[in-house]
Amino acid sequence: MNMDILFIGDVVGSPGRDMVMEYVPKLKEKYRPHVTIINGENAAGGKGITEKIYRSFLEVGAQVVTLGNHTWDNREIFEFIEDAKYLIRPANFPENNPGKGIVYVRMNQLEIAVINLQGRTFMPAIDDPFLKAEQLIKEAKERTPFIFVDFHGEATSEKQAIGWYLDGRVSAIVGTHTHVQTADNRVLPKGTAYISDVGMTGPYDGILGMEREVVLKRFLTGLPVRFEVPKTGRTQLSAVLVQLDNKTGLAKKIERILINEDHPFYS
Ligand SMILES: [Fe+2]
Repeated sequence: MNMDILFIGDVVGSPGRDMVMEYVPKLKEKYRPHVTIINGENAAGGKGITEKIYRSFLEVGAQVVTLGNHTWDNREIFEFIEDAKYLIRPANFPENNPGKGIVYVRMNQLEIAVINLQGRTFMPAIDDPFLKAEQLIKEAKERTPFIFVDFHGEATSEKQAIGWYLDGRVSAIVGTHTHVQTADNRVLPKGTAYISDVGMTGPYDGILGMEREVVLKRFLTGLPVRFEVPKTGRTQLSAVLVQLDNKTGLAKKIERILINEDHPFYS
């Protein structure tokens, strides 16, 4: 017996949300995951999340929604995060921040801990994610062998470092934030599923999900610009499917999922 987890990478704006609504039900039917997790930190216009979007993700079949460096960018978050039971933000944000960084989900007889952490390399200065991981894993192990970590980070080196650091101690650690799916998905020697970045769900022809003309203008002129999510155009969905051993909580495999016009979905 296995426990299967479907994780959808950073959902960017309305193109990303449309992909979630269209394909999460299809993916759930195809793979029948026990738990579905969505990173929604870019879901509201590319920055942050609203209560309506959070609820729509639960309604389409997610059990947990994770966040990242844009957690506070849509100010509506302050009004609902404390009541949003299945919404987590990086656990290594300052202690006095609203919300939480770990949640437990019960599926049939099994319970899984989902943890959100954020890197510190080329990112805002926050608490040590290695130390925070240590504390939360200790807490989670008291309850369950199933521990899933979304590590929101910029540097591949930092992601690989924490992957190796946690090998054998968590079921899976998947990278988010850099928006390009990496081809290094593997089960590490002691049984932890790993990928440096799951990739992004949103515009296919932008630059990391943003309007490419605007991003180009910044590179060409160095002038300040306002990033926007393109409203039309081709879209994609990036995800991973992780298969865990029911007894040990360790991973058997981690598979990449990429859906776009160049990689069509087959049911
Ligand atoms: Fe991010």
